[in-house]
Amino acid sequence: MIAVIGGTGFVGRNVVEQLSTRDEPVRVFYRSEAKAKLLKQFKNVELVKGDLLEPATLPRLLQGADKLIFTAAITANVKNTDNLYQRVHINGTRNAVKAAQAAGIKQIVLQSGLGTKPDKPGTYMQTRWEMEEIIRQSGIDWFILQTSILFGRGSEFFEAQARIIRMAPFAPVIGDGNTRFQPIYVKDVARCLVEALDRSDKNKRSLPLGGPEFYSYRQLINLMVSTLGKQRVKIYLPLWAARIQAQLFNLLPKPPLTPATLELFGFDNVTLDPQIVEHEFGFKPLDLKTYLKENGIG
Ligand SMILES: NC(=O)c1ccc[n+]([C@@H]2O[C@H](COP(=O)([O-])OP(=O)(O)OC[C@H]3O[C@@H](n4cnc5c(N)ncnc54)[C@H](OP(=O)(O)O)[C@@H]3O)[C@@H](O)[C@H]2O)c1
Repeated sequence: MIAVIGGTGFVGRNVVEQLSTRDEPVRVFYRSEAKAKLLKQFKNVELVKGDLLEPATLPRLLQGADKLIFTAAITANVKNTDNLYQRVHINGTRNAVKAAQAAGIKQIVLQSGLGTKPDKPGTYMQTRWEMEEIIRQSGIDWFILQTSILFGRGSEFFEAQARIIRMAPFAPVIGDGNTRFQPIYVKDVARCLVEALDRSDKNKRSLPLGGPEFYSYRQLINLMVSTLGKQRVKIYLPLWAARIQAQLFNLLPKPPLTPATLELFGFDNVTLDPQIVEHEFGFKPLDLKTYLKENGIG
């Protein structure tokens, strides 16, 4: 049996869909009934209600399971209310690993992001790095996928920018527009996570992964503007000014820009290899332009 934590999320839903076509039973953790409903269409899938922050709910998910796919996290666009990053990434992952050890789980496959590194206490990246470390030190076989930004139906990165481009007479660009990204299709990421369950060559590896093309942030904005059939003047917001704005937005319950998002603009979000998926998993991933031509944005 395969257990999934985070199966109601953007990546997790695609993982559950792909797992449901395999032979093993699948058990998925969920918090809200509304989101769990989206998973009821998949066969072979049992749903177990719980929360990473309530350790007593984890044994029911993991008892009798062999492997765990872990796609739960707080994404950088969400505000760090009451140390949410620390509570979910560090305390929550510790709870999951403890329960996995007790249940005899043999492998943990973690979906993470590019650029996790030890950093100042309390920063987003520090909590993401500690989350990975807890899994690397668990004594259980592990594989960590560290991806660049994802596209596909429900991608907050693309859909949030599209909302702004539709509404505003200009297109805001964070920083100088030169930060590089290597967008990858969410269904291709789900496929890699699921295939890693059967691949001993992936054991104890943290693998940076991206799609077949590199884009600067400016090029991504241009592509979104043309996909939406709009004409927009780009307004550049230097990183220092964006940081001040993010601090001010932090007063809102759902800020449109968070300090954590800006951490993702502090480095190039790319791997060294545009064919990394072919080289590691042997299939050709979908490229962003083809996806947008066929599906548009959101
Ligand atoms: N989206 C991207 O472009 C992107 C790019 C690179 C890396 N990643 C990484 O991929 C992973 C998945 O991202 P995503 O886009 O799928 O995020 P998402 O849509 O926000 O999904 C996050 C999942 O985590 C669950 N979760 C959060 N707190 C929880 C808790 N206390 N207990 C149990 N479950 C909890 C959520 O449950 P609910 O549904 O109940 O909220 C949801 O299922 C993250 O590590 C993210 O950083 C994403």
